[in-house]
Amino acid sequence: MADKVPFLSKPYSAYHQRDMPREDEELTRVGPGTPGGEYLRRFWQPILLSHELKDLPRRIRILGEDLVAFRDKSGAAGLLEPYCAHRGVSLEFGLIADKGIRCCYHGWKFAADGTPLTGQAAAVSGEAVDVHAGAAIEGRPDDAILHMRELGDNVFYGG
Ligand code: FES
Repeated sequence: MADKVPFLSKPYSAYHQRDMPREDEELTRVGPGTPGGEYLRRFWQPILLSHELKDLPRRIRILGEDLVAFRDKSGAAGLLEPYCAHRGVSLEFGLIADKGIRCCYHGWKFAADGTPLTGQAAAVSGEAVDVHAGAAIEGRPDDAILHMRELGDNVFYGG
């Protein structure tokens, strides 16, 4: 017969278990650039229910990032960094347009994928620019487009 391991020699009681393990930051930190965050961003994370995206933008916080989700009047769902590339006003207060979202301050307009549709960024190139709405503010590289998918009634972020 096997010997009892020492910690099973008496009934378990959380009252006597006062030692708190140290936080393992490699696992618990999920912001951009952290090992845990980079790992979790390889998987689709559920962030909203599709029917929650209505006529008002929604500010969400996922994996340590603040983002704004919306659905424009054409039905396209968008996920952008919250601050307008022009002067940094929150797109949480943006106006839903037929195609994209319009900043409430000077009116720059961004498509659901973050492409500027109006404003200086679009005017300089003469066509839609593949720059994320918040890239200039957050220092996010241009190729770090926010990925979002809808499946059934769920909206996912990551991938
Ligand atoms: S701050 Fe958004 S358009 Fe000026």
